[in-house]
Amino acid sequence: MEVRNLSVSYGGAQILKGINLRLGAGLTAVIGPNGAGKTTLLKAISGLVGFKGIVKLFDRELDSLDQAERVRLVTYIPPIVEALPDVTVGDLVLSDSMVDHGLLPKYVEILQLHTLLTRKLSLVSSGELSRALLARGLSRNSRVIALDEPLSHVDVRFQLILLKHLRTLSQEGRVILIASNQLTPLLSQVDYVVAVNGGEVAFFGSVADLLKTDTLSRIYGVRFEVVRVGDFTDLIPVEPS
Ligand SMILES: Nc1ncnc2c1ncn2[C@@H]1O[C@H](COP(=O)(O)OP(=O)(O)OP(=O)(O)O)[C@@H](O)[C@H]1O
Ligand SMILES: [Mg+2]
Repeated sequence: MEVRNLSVSYGGAQILKGINLRLGAGLTAVIGPNGAGKTTLLKAISGLVGFKGIVKLFDRELDSLDQAERVRLVTYIPPIVEALPDVTVGDLVLSDSMVDHGLLPKYVEILQLHTLLTRKLSLVSSGELSRALLARGLSRNSRVIALDEPLSHVDVRFQLILLKHLRTLSQEGRVILIASNQLTPLLSQVDYVVAVNGGEVAFFGSVADLLKTDTLSRIYGVRFEVVRVGDFTDLIPVEPS
C-alpha cells in the first residue's frame, strides 16, 4: 500500500497533513493521541472520506476503483455502529453483500458468535457487537484490512485470539493496519508502527526502533516504563512527562 501526500480536511480544518507511507504485507499499528487522525487515515485509505493526494493499493489507484473492486482490495472495520432496533447480529453479518459466505462460518467460530446470531444488536454488549463487526469485516476477505480500535471493547482473550489471527492473515500477504489506543498488547504483536500526531506521521518503523526514540512520551505527554517478559513488551504509563 502506498500513500503519497495524503491530506484530509473537514469543513476547512486540515486533519491529515500530507502523509507519506509505504506498507507491505504485515501487521502495522497506527497509534497516536485522541484526535491525532488515526480513524481519518484508515477511512481515507478505505475510500470512505474524500482526500487529496494518492492512495495506491496493490498498484491500483483508489480513485480509479468501483465499489466492488474497492471492497475486494480494502475493508474498514469500525469499532462500533449505531444499532438499528430490529436488526440482529445474524442480519448484520449475513446480509452484507460483500461478505464471502464460505469464510463466514470460520469467523463465527473464531469470534464465538453462534449463540448471538438471533440477538438484536440493541441488546448485545459492546464487546459482542465489536466481535460481530470483526466477523463481517474479516469475512470480506480483502487484501488490505483497516481495523479501527478492534481491541477497545473485546476482552483480553479475544484481543489475543484476534491479534494471532491477524498475524496469520498478514503472513498470507495481507496488509493489516490496526488503529488503537491499547498499546498493550498491540505493540507486542505488530511488525511496524505508524505514530500519528496532529495529522502528521511522527514515527514510522519497527517497535524496537520506536522504543529507542522519545516518540511515545512526546506525543502522549506521558512517561513509559518498558517491561519485557519473553517476547511480550508491556508499556506502563508512569506519569505525565
Ligand atoms: N466529520 C468531521 N467533521 C469535523 N471534524 C472531524 C470530523 N471527523 C473527525 N474530525 C476531527 O478530526 C480529528 C481527527 O479525528 P480522528 O477520528 O481521525 O482521530 P483519532 O486519532 O482516530 O482519535 P481517537 O483516538 O479519539 O479515536 C479530531 O479532532 C476530530 O474531532
Ligand atoms: Mg479513532
